[in-house]
Amino acid sequence: MNVVICLGGSVVATPSVNYEYLKNFSKLIKKYVDLGYKFIIVVGGGKIAREYIEIAKKFKSNENFCDKIGILATRLNAMVLISSLGNYAHEDVITSTKNLKFDKRVKVLGGTVPGQTTDSVAAEAAKVSGADLLIFATDVNGIYDKDPRVHPDAKLLEKLTYEDLLKYAIKKHEAGVKGVIDLKAAEIIKRYKIKTIFLNGRDLNNIERALNGKNVGTIII
Ligand code: UTP
Repeated sequence: MNVVICLGGSVVATPSVNYEYLKNFSKLIKKYVDLGYKFIIVVGGGKIAREYIEIAKKFKSNENFCDKIGILATRLNAMVLISSLGNYAHEDVITSTKNLKFDKRVKVLGGTVPGQTTDSVAAEAAKVSGADLLIFATDVNGIYDKDPRVHPDAKLLEKLTYEDLLKYAIKKHEAGVKGVIDLKAAEIIKRYKIKTIFLNGRDLNNIERALNGKNVGTIII
């Protein structure tokens, strides 16, 4: 099975880069590589991206410049993931989704171009590589009917259609601003009918369930 994982920056860095998590996450990935799975992993920028962007905004840097800061932060996180995977991964961070293909060794990306988030990189990567499954591993259990951080009675949605996903997408890009998924990513997923799961990646059992075709988080079909 060929899988793209979009690993949220808030999962890898909680709040700063998390050695224990990376160790356990890469152990899981190595186990599945040994079972014949192939992975492309796109890593987010998390807190470090937001902090640096916030400062640049105070100095009135433009959106494009702030996005470039965000991209660097994602690549920094990508590099520690590569360290944790050792020779199971390509040593360099992949900087474009052009002609991206699965390989026995894991390919790790961060951001690619300004004007989007790593959600779009992951959706694009899944489209270009013809992935069987796209996993968004974040610090939230899936997609809720309303924002669970604000509404304690919010309900986890176990299944959504591609059309529904668009409703939950962030409509306008702004450097460092986060939501369920960015619009460009939701549009790619819908157009190419990519099997997608949103789950809480802090609990590695959730990722393992998804890799084994079991119900977890929110599935888009
Ligand atoms: P993230 O993908 O990390 O944003 O990119 P996020 O939605 O905050 O996700 P988490 O918190 O890591 O899970 C961080 C910032 O980097 C820039 C954007 O400004 C984005 O907000 N970026 C990222 C780009 O401009 N292009 C990319 O391809 C990726």
